[in-house]
Amino acid sequence: MSATAAAATLHSSVALDVRPLAGACGAEIQGIDLAADLDDATIAAIRRALLDHCVVFFHDQTLDAEQQKALARRFGEIFVHPNFKGTGPDPKIVEIRREPGDKRIVGEEWHADTTMVAEPPMGAILYAIDVPPYGGDTLFANQYAAYDALSDGMKRLIAGLRAIHSDRKVAGPQAGLNAYRSTKVREDTDWRETVNTHPVVRTHPETGRKCLFVNHSYSIGFEGMTEAESRPLLEFLMDHGHRPEFTCRFRWRKGSVAFWDNRCTKHLAVNDTPTFRRHMRRVQIAGDRPF
Ligand code: SIN
Repeated sequence: MSATAAAATLHSSVALDVRPLAGACGAEIQGIDLAADLDDATIAAIRRALLDHCVVFFHDQTLDAEQQKALARRFGEIFVHPNFKGTGPDPKIVEIRREPGDKRIVGEEWHADTTMVAEPPMGAILYAIDVPPYGGDTLFANQYAAYDALSDGMKRLIAGLRAIHSDRKVAGPQAGLNAYRSTKVREDTDWRETVNTHPVVRTHPETGRKCLFVNHSYSIGFEGMTEAESRPLLEFLMDHGHRPEFTCRFRWRKGSVAFWDNRCTKHLAVNDTPTFRRHMRRVQIAGDRPF
């Protein structure tokens, strides 16, 4: 049994077939049918693999929306995204579509999901319904590794810092994204900005490890500083967080699933297939207040 498979059995009697995708994060899990009524030991083993690898992938799955929500509920309550609410028939489901000719896509900047809320989601399960023949990959970056690689001086500097997270760049009338992409967010005039502050270095509630927790879509400055004062250090930390050695790249197939831990990763959907259709279905899982 490989070291990884052994780790996956720590809290479970089930030994999964877990194959790392890159040095820093990401692993493919083989031999699991996510539509099946999985037993608690198998769910525990998937959770163990998620904690170990930050993001796990599955291929050749067939999931309808109800099965995807049922799977998500095995890991926590479903999180309803405030800015996609009302844009589809089921608020628990976000359909992420790229149609040929779209200039913009959801998630094209390095980000963790929905960090402007007080309790950002712990994770998300993304299912590929339709994928381009090539391109349309998703990149993930391990934020434990990003934190660990900082100097002791930088770790001391950012130890007590809190970042302000806002959704003003990705929703609301001023964001202006709906004109360029098929997936719509709330841009109506009743929309109100959501703002919360979170520690720049958060402690993962399950692993106890420290990780960087700032991202390009939502982090706009540091508490107690202007945005201009914050910008140089914030930009450094956000860019540092996706250095290539902290990342993995996932190549989707129709029926692939990615399940990421939103507490210790960032991700980016690569905007490189303007002539092709890409259709994904996302369910988010509720998280807790970062500390
Ligand atoms: C997202 O940011 O949740 C979307 C990722 C993707 O479509 O690859």
